[in-house]
Amino acid sequence: MKDLLETLQPGDPDLEWANAIDPTRLPAHIAIIMDGNGRWANRRSLPRVAGHRAGVGPVRNTVETCARLGVKVLTLYAFSEENWKRPRAEVETLWRLLRYYLKKELPDLQRNGIRLQAIGRLDALPAPVRRELESVVEATSRNRRLLVNLAINYSGRSEILDAVNSIIENARRQGRLDALHIDEQLLASNLYTAPSPDPDLLIRTSGEMRISNFLLWQIAYSELYVTDTLWPDFNRAELLKAILDYQKRDRRYGGLSNGWHGRSTEEQLIEVIASPQ
Ligand code: FPP
Repeated sequence: MKDLLETLQPGDPDLEWANAIDPTRLPAHIAIIMDGNGRWANRRSLPRVAGHRAGVGPVRNTVETCARLGVKVLTLYAFSEENWKRPRAEVETLWRLLRYYLKKELPDLQRNGIRLQAIGRLDALPAPVRRELESVVEATSRNRRLLVNLAINYSGRSEILDAVNSIIENARRQGRLDALHIDEQLLASNLYTAPSPDPDLLIRTSGEMRISNFLLWQIAYSELYVTDTLWPDFNRAELLKAILDYQKRDRRYGGLSNGWHGRSTEEQLIEVIASPQ
């Protein structure tokens, strides 16, 4: 957080948002569904791929701002298993952009202590993309300031299925299949995102009220924030606003808000009955 404030010059319009953030209550893990690249391009009468190109800058800015703030994990939805249904030329542009990003950003990732991890069914990626990814993942594996999970050829349902199948396979290999019992902890520890904590905040751009098969297990108690801003327009101020909104939420995890904890039902009823209408 201190690091972010130091980079903001007096008079920077983002300073007001940054100063309003409580550094002791930052989300440890932010996940983002980056949506709206195509609409951004359509509105400018540009081809859809121009929207994807314009989406690279916000990826870079979001990673940098999260690192400066002190967020520990950032998970970005870059390509879903369903995205293969798009025209081949669009899919190929996405691979090109990803390779360009990885090549260009490696020095900055290293300088800023950012570790990159890829999550999804990576075997199905074109070989040059997979190789580039593997080399950046390996090169940044000792960085500890921020972990960026890039979800590529990702599906939340496939992730759960892969976890279950790998648990079964391990048990079979160890001859423990008969006694196998899967609980939440065992399943969670076999997800692609393990051992990261679940996202505290899930942001979706472009106003769509959908989860789109993203982190289905992990977002059970994440706070959701949907903005109408299209991904290519998502900037530092937008991220800070989402975090501020998150800090106003009362996270109850199915329990009661802090004010009601530890009080008997009678005490609570007396308060409700006695309170003015
Ligand atoms: C959704 O917009 C976006 C994607 C499917 C791809 C995300 C890719 C980027 C942000 C570009 C670069 C990424 C990296 C990691 C370097 P959409 O095409 O579904 O938009 P629409 O809903 O308006 O059509």
